[in-house]
Order: sequence, then C-alpha cells, then structure tokens
Amino acid sequence: MASFLPRAAPRALRFAARPVLRSQRPAIPLLRRGLATPTVAEQPRLRLGSVAPNFQAKTTHGDIDFHKFIEGSWAILFSHPADFTPVCTTELGAFAKLKDEFEKRGVKMIGLSADDLTLHDQWVSDINEVCNTSVSFPIIADADRKVAYLYDMISQDDLDNIATKGIAFTIRAVFIIDPSKKIRLTMLYPASTGRNTSEVLRVIDSLQLGDRKGVVTPIDWTAGEDVIVPPSVSTAEARKKFGEGNVREVKPYLRFTNVGK
Ligand code: BEZ
Repeated sequence: MASFLPRAAPRALRFAARPVLRSQRPAIPLLRRGLATPTVAEQPRLRLGSVAPNFQAKTTHGDIDFHKFIEGSWAILFSHPADFTPVCTTELGAFAKLKDEFEKRGVKMIGLSADDLTLHDQWVSDINEVCNTSVSFPIIADADRKVAYLYDMISQDDLDNIATKGIAFTIRAVFIIDPSKKIRLTMLYPASTGRNTSEVLRVIDSLQLGDRKGVVTPIDWTAGEDVIVPPSVSTAEARKKFGEGNVREVKPYLRFTNVGK
C-alpha cells in the first residue's frame, strides 16, 4: 500500500522553511521518551451511542476539559495528521468558512492536529491567509497523541511499525457528539483523502431532524427532501402523526413522508 504519510521528506521540507522551529521538535521518538502505546484494554470502545471519552488538552483557545467544552451543545471533533500539510490546510480553511452553518445547527467545532501549540498558531495564520478565512474554533495540540489514542485516530500500519517509527500518525477522523455527550457518528478518512464538509453538515441535519421528528433519512438525502417512517411506526400511526395525505407507502416497510427541514 502506498504511504501518503509525510515522513522524512515533507517534514524536512517543512523545517527547512522554518528553521527556527526545529529546536521545538522532539528529537527523540515519543515511545523512547516513555509514552507507551495503550493496550487494547485501555482503548475505550467508541461505539455509536457511547459517551465520548473526556480529556483535558491544550488548544489554541487555552486549556479545555472536553466535556465542559461540549456543555449541552452538539459538537464536532475532527483530527488532522500534522500542521503545515496541504490537505489539512484546505480542510481547516473549509471548516472555518462554514462557521455560520455549524452555529446555525448549534454545533461547536473543535479541531485536533498532532503538533504543538507554537506550530498551531503559526499554521492558523497560514490557513487564514491561504483560504481567505478566519479560523475561529479551537485546535487541540496533540503532539503526544494522547487524544489520538483515546479516540483511536491512529492508523494500524503505524501501530504495527511503532517500534521502528517511534510515533504513530494521526488519521483524519470526525466525531459528531450530541448534547448528552454521546457519539452519534464517526467518519475515518486516510491521510491521503480530504473530507467533504457538505457530507458532515448533511449527517448533522439527518441526526437532528431524526431526533426532532422521529424519522430516518434515505440514501443521498438532503435537508427538505422526503424522509422515511422508521419500521417501529405503523403506517396508521404515521398517518396520524404526519398527516393523512403525507405518508406514501411504497411497500409496507418503505413509507415516505415530508417533515420539512
Ligand atoms: C496533508 O496534505 O494534509 C497530508 C498528506 C499526507 C499525510 C499527512 C497530511
């Protein structure tokens, strides 16, 4: 399998362009500095419906306790492999531009990148310049991969080679968390593939509409289109709930209705 992870060359390029930062980098692999890979038993199960694990972290907006950060809102936690990398730069710029869309849905945004705060602050300036935006959400500094391990944002290839590589890379993960702090959706992308912000907003719309109206959404659904009556609701009940003329039965198990946005 081709490796898209920026190893020596891109990192060397990065630091050649920013020689002053080289001294801020840990020269010794983290494992040799005493950070152990968590065992399977320590890795929490991140099932849909399980409570998002809490953690404390340094972010570009100061220290946070993740559960306090969520505090009764929806939240999206999305991770990045490294600062000053091209795909990540486009992703963070795109998420920043959608601030109003996330706010409209009551969703707090928080990014994570596997580097330290000094790099984050400089990278945010680059993102703002390159993407003509203003990153206004916090970005977690996860140079030691504490949160990456807690949320299993690590690639198996890197874990398998941890003894030689010394540190595992953080993949692109998305966690959508509801106000009761439950994980409602996860997406895992490889480092080589940037995410799709429309899909992230689409699934938030689906989850929130489902919670409000007790419906489920079909393939490729977008807000405003017909939704599906879940199997737990009979057609008679659905007609009572959504209106006599507002339930279209294609099969006894496939009933469409429209509940707006
Ligand atoms: C990036 O461009 O963001 C990237 C690409 C490969 C590995 C890590 C990051």
